[in-house]
Amino acid sequence: MNFNMNDIIYKKREGGELTAEEIKWWIDGYVRGEIPDYQVSALLMAIFFRGLSREETYMLTSAMRYSGDTVDLSSIRGIKVDKHSTGGVGDKTTLVVAPLASACGVPIAKMSGRGLGFTGGTVDKMESIPGFRTVLEPEEFMNQVNTVGMAVIGQSGHITPADKKLYALRDVTATVDNFGLIASSIMSKKLAAGSDAIVLDVKCGDGAFMENLEDAVTLADLMVDIGYDAGRRTVACITDMSQPLGKAVGNALEVIEAIDTLKGRGPEDITELSKKLAGIMIFLGGRADTPEQGYELAREALESGTGLTQMRLFIEAQGGDENVIYDYSLFPQAEYSEELKADRSGFVSEIRARQIGLASQKTGAGRETKEDEIDLSAGIILNKKVGDRVEEGEVLATFCGNDPKKVREGLEEARKAFEITDEEVSRPELIKEIIGL
Ligand code: URA
Repeated sequence: MNFNMNDIIYKKREGGELTAEEIKWWIDGYVRGEIPDYQVSALLMAIFFRGLSREETYMLTSAMRYSGDTVDLSSIRGIKVDKHSTGGVGDKTTLVVAPLASACGVPIAKMSGRGLGFTGGTVDKMESIPGFRTVLEPEEFMNQVNTVGMAVIGQSGHITPADKKLYALRDVTATVDNFGLIASSIMSKKLAAGSDAIVLDVKCGDGAFMENLEDAVTLADLMVDIGYDAGRRTVACITDMSQPLGKAVGNALEVIEAIDTLKGRGPEDITELSKKLAGIMIFLGGRADTPEQGYELAREALESGTGLTQMRLFIEAQGGDENVIYDYSLFPQAEYSEELKADRSGFVSEIRARQIGLASQKTGAGRETKEDEIDLSAGIILNKKVGDRVEEGEVLATFCGNDPKKVREGLEEARKAFEITDEEVSRPELIKEIIGL
């Protein structure tokens, strides 16, 4: 069927509802390069102001899902469960959750992204392991999941090309933060990636797309509905991102913290969240009768060290040096470090995640544009978390990297992140809501 892009823009501008045929037509035309950016920009802005209905969001997801290759994981035995975070600061949970769930018999065949702006990406983090390959041939990828139990690679260039083009356009037309556009972008990639069930970690707070709980619930509901409509069991956890997760922010630093967590010595928040998410994955993967039983299995995998063994096997299978598990000096090392000290005594009441993410980016750990090179050793180690007591002159955080100017810039940026008060402060609630169980 042939439509006219001008009519489609006009219809949405006036608040109309687009049909499945219209959506598929403009998505396919855009991917083929037949519809120009300026018309799609206008449509995105109309969508931004008028919104998308649930049906339109589902149709958009579906059109983007099938805009390129889709992954067929049927040669992998068992119920494959995927996990996705909407993006945060210090979020290394995939590197803990995947080994835990996999150690409990859930096959993990995961595609991850790179970091951009103040949020990090799993692929960059894994590349800080010497020799680690984030690109595997499809057959190698499937074989590894069947033999080792898990594989994590970068997203192939042929999956959801519509999302790639649209996301880049949204980024420069102030149309990123729209529920339907975010939900369809995330879910089209998850559905194309082929797993049977999906666990979503929807971040909520200053360092996330969704700054308040109400918005996070709206987005989570939408994504869970899309998942179920597409025949995939989908669960969303809404979790805190008002402060960074754990204490490490930066690529190699976060992998080290993930390994520490698998050794049972990780920060409390990352340990708890990982067990919770892994527990839900174990349940959805049919390896536990309830999420609570899944949680217990994840806890046992952590305490017995089978999760750590799984991490070692996974690193080795993907060509990485598995000795990093016991010798952290094998990771890229930063040449410079500086400490930020508290200018007064009291209780830490805020460590604004977004500000810390920006500071980490400034040390060299993150990219401003997709083409930027990153310093895998750079980043921040927090010495305090919200609720902790601090004395004047005590270290709040250490900044490191290979460029002293960037390290200093990161430290200066992070000054604004910390708030210290006289009154005792309670720790933010980590898991705020679970949707879809
Ligand atoms: N992450 C995505 O993949 N897409 C969005 O639109 C927002 C976050």
